[in-house]
Amino acid sequence: MPREHDEVIPELTLEQKARLASGADFWSTKPVPGIRRITMNDGPHGMRVVADIGLKSQKRATCFPPAVGLGSSWNPALQREVGEAIGREARALGVDIVLGPGINIKRSPLCGRNFEYVSEDPLVAGSFGQALVEGIQSQGVGASVKHFAANNQETDRMHVSAEVDERTLREIYFPAFERVVTTAKPATVMCSYNRINGVYASQNEWLLTRVLREDWGFDGVVVSDWGAVVDRVEAVKAGLDLKMPTATGDDRVIAAAQSGELPEFVLDRVVSRLQALAERADASRLGPVDVDFDAQHEIALRAALEGPVLLKNENGALPLLEQGSTRIAVVGEFARTPRYQGSGSSQVPSTRVDSALDALTELIGSRVRFAPGFTFDGDAEADPVLAEEARSLAADSDWTVLFLGLPDSCESEGFDRDTIELPANQLALLEAVSAVTRRVIVVLSNGGLVETDSWEFRARAILEGWLLGQAGGRAIAQLLLGRANPSGKLTESIPVKLEDTPAYINFPGCDGQVVYGERVYVGYRYYDTRGLPVSFPFGHGLSYTEFEYSGLSVTATDGGASVTFTVTNVGEVAGAEVAQVYRSDRHSAIDRPAHELVGFQKVFLEPGAAQTVTIELDSRAFAYWSIGRRGWIVDEGLFTLSVGASSRDLRLNGDVRLPAQGPQRRLTAFSSIAEWFADPVGSQVLQGAIAQLPDAHTFQLDPSTNEGKMFAAIPLGHLLTMVPSAPSGAAEQLVAAYEQLSRSE
Ligand code: BGC
Repeated sequence: MPREHDEVIPELTLEQKARLASGADFWSTKPVPGIRRITMNDGPHGMRVVADIGLKSQKRATCFPPAVGLGSSWNPALQREVGEAIGREARALGVDIVLGPGINIKRSPLCGRNFEYVSEDPLVAGSFGQALVEGIQSQGVGASVKHFAANNQETDRMHVSAEVDERTLREIYFPAFERVVTTAKPATVMCSYNRINGVYASQNEWLLTRVLREDWGFDGVVVSDWGAVVDRVEAVKAGLDLKMPTATGDDRVIAAAQSGELPEFVLDRVVSRLQALAERADASRLGPVDVDFDAQHEIALRAALEGPVLLKNENGALPLLEQGSTRIAVVGEFARTPRYQGSGSSQVPSTRVDSALDALTELIGSRVRFAPGFTFDGDAEADPVLAEEARSLAADSDWTVLFLGLPDSCESEGFDRDTIELPANQLALLEAVSAVTRRVIVVLSNGGLVETDSWEFRARAILEGWLLGQAGGRAIAQLLLGRANPSGKLTESIPVKLEDTPAYINFPGCDGQVVYGERVYVGYRYYDTRGLPVSFPFGHGLSYTEFEYSGLSVTATDGGASVTFTVTNVGEVAGAEVAQVYRSDRHSAIDRPAHELVGFQKVFLEPGAAQTVTIELDSRAFAYWSIGRRGWIVDEGLFTLSVGASSRDLRLNGDVRLPAQGPQRRLTAFSSIAEWFADPVGSQVLQGAIAQLPDAHTFQLDPSTNEGKMFAAIPLGHLLTMVPSAPSGAAEQLVAAYEQLSRSE
């Protein structure tokens, strides 16, 4: 029987309580009477059980597609299934907490860890995080959603201060965490290494207590990222429960507790949260489980089939003909040696690995011939012997499938990239091959996006395979041959060039600071607002079939809207479409992105079949965060909801009128004359007061004149200090009159 929290707390000494606030070793907590040891391990796309700081694990586990691949499926049911499969392996390994998923926003394509993250869009990241956490936790173990918050780069990650305004945090960098916390209720949240507006996340009371617990109702354990705690006492005070790894600094916490600097109730809070965690996240809770690694591999395969994004498919170049005598050149080392996950703490010691070359050979036999074309040495010049071998193979084949991508050395946890280009030796190979054949198909393997603008014209089709986990090679083979139909969509825009990216001039910052100067204009919010060309837009992804959208109806609900439309598969083969709903708000009182994703649904359709989709939107889908009013605001007026296949392929539009919601603007002495006149009550009060002033006629307040425009921008209080006949305290009196009149209305 689990014991009541208050039964345990009194039994522990102050010192025992203080010691609980840190790990026993690299991967577990300290047991005390009444609270057992809790074990934690990475990670986000499969289990990595290691002894210490080393990255090499002895225990084999299934490597599912990393977030970049699984996220591109836009399929929460599939993501949940992967979560369940990861949870199953955690349970079998006796791991109580899975350290994942990572749901930080992809602010810049240069972030070395983007392969572990999902999207440039918070809805896509949050929906993924919710599904993964629900899946993992359905197995009785806990998840640790990470890295909270504004951890969007690896450069200087343990010290850099993300300088970011609250609206941007609330609208872009927080909502994925908020969604996971409020829906999936993760057992733990992992705070990030970096500082936010000067304060380390690990000791940021506003972040860990005000936002996470008070605003969102989080009642689990906040664990630090490994080595993220700088000041142990400040961290506990701010709301960090568990410093990981190891117990360094315990003496400081004990001394602070003994001196009263750290109140005992703060430590009691830590104790009771860890006790609750030990009860709810327990690998043994649902009993022993046998893991069938073949069945797990099949799940990894199904997940990998939905990740790849068909970026381009000129004249139906894909799928490759399965029958007949077509000779296919498979070129590129990635076909033989797949790159299927990224480096760092998330690296899984896979149970097995499928290569695309083996899978293609298995499926279509001797029609496949291979040439490696290049080596994984990214800095290398093109190898003339390998390039020549590939070129002559391509010249002697009907189709060439060229496997390009980023070798391991190009991206990893721990450092950022400085380019989004493919390695030069691979681009040289593409050029050489495309000089001897026009029938080139490119398959990409990369965690962070790569630019395609400089070379896409050389390829008839491009399949962006991201990193797909241990079954990825088999999935790619099936997709190339049309045994499965691509259904992945871009969770991040592919820019024409690095210089176009919104954070370009600020990333990765300097002197310990990175300024989030682009504010809420991240990813498509930036490109689409500016009308900048992109190579492939957010949400884009082709299929071997085609979909039509029809019958949009938009109706207002209680503060939100209901959107209904029909998607029809008008092509010849079965396929899946990710239908997306974007909201635009052109009457808002503040600047907003041209449109923002507010809903999506993946529909699976046989040829000729149709499905009617309904997406319910609550008021948050229409709201912005007001820094001044400290809350979510909907301005009264018409909103447009657009439905389509990507942020730049919107097929249907409908309008809905919503009432004002959230804390409404109050006029103050700092409100401008224009704001006073724009408010019906304010204008009545102000006009009445002006009429009393003997020198009123000297003010030209007519807004159609330049003088009127100049006055319009002046705060009321300031203006009145310049009016000789205005009595002292006039502004305060007007504000009081306004408050009284608005209350009585
Ligand atoms: C990473 C975390 C990871 C932890 C434990 C840190 O370096 O940032 O994502 O869970 O190590 O391996």
